[in-house]
Amino acid sequence: MEVVIVPDAAAGGELIAEAMAALLRRKPDALLGVATGSTPLPIYEALATKVRSAAVDASRARICQLDEYVGLPYGHPESYRSVVLREVVEPLGLSESSFMGPDGTTDDVAAACVAYDRALAEAGGVDLQLLGIGTDGHIGFNEPCSSLASRTRIKTLTEQTRQDNARFFDSPDEVPHHVITQGIGTILEARHLVLLATGASKAEAVALAVEGPLSALVPASALQLHPHATVVVDEAAASRLK
Ligand code: F6R
Repeated sequence: MEVVIVPDAAAGGELIAEAMAALLRRKPDALLGVATGSTPLPIYEALATKVRSAAVDASRARICQLDEYVGLPYGHPESYRSVVLREVVEPLGLSESSFMGPDGTTDDVAAACVAYDRALAEAGGVDLQLLGIGTDGHIGFNEPCSSLASRTRIKTLTEQTRQDNARFFDSPDEVPHHVITQGIGTILEARHLVLLATGASKAEAVALAVEGPLSALVPASALQLHPHATVVVDEAAASRLK
């Protein structure tokens, strides 16, 4: 695992956007796995800037989701489908046809999970998967004690994660209790994992993930198993590293 310490979130965003741009220059139809939440926004802004300035052509890029809330209606502004379309797909000038994600609106969630793992494999696998990290060490929505071999499936959010995400909703009660998330085993199949963590609130989780033992109690520690994992942290998020 490679750990890169950058001065701030903007520098992390620029560094990772450049890695994504380099990938797209090598492989124009790369499948990019994206995360939601606040942390990756500087990456998406920096990548969109590169596309607008013609520093990279992203017109053949393909985008896939890491996770999705269960039960939000189609088109809900905080469904991760809507968020990824708004924050990634549209700014990159892509159309919905270049985008795939799990169906959080279905009655048959189990079938949607199996279908999504199959769709990822049929698309040739994820070339670069962006990850954030929860304050409890989750990646995707694999909360502590998730199996390190898990596949895409439904998970129950912890109250901590629901509180962390309440800022995106009008009231904390509106945060769904369930999500579909790529499993840790699914995530580990991506060819390159890139985790960005910024801010002091992530420092403990980063230290446990990077320097602690491999443990299902800290799902992000699974990155230690991956042959090509890059962890980009700002100085605040790096503050508990030895
Ligand atoms: C969201 C996701 C989550 C977030 C994590 C950090 O798609 O996969 O694991 O990355 O909850 O969220 P922020 O960046 O908002 O602190």
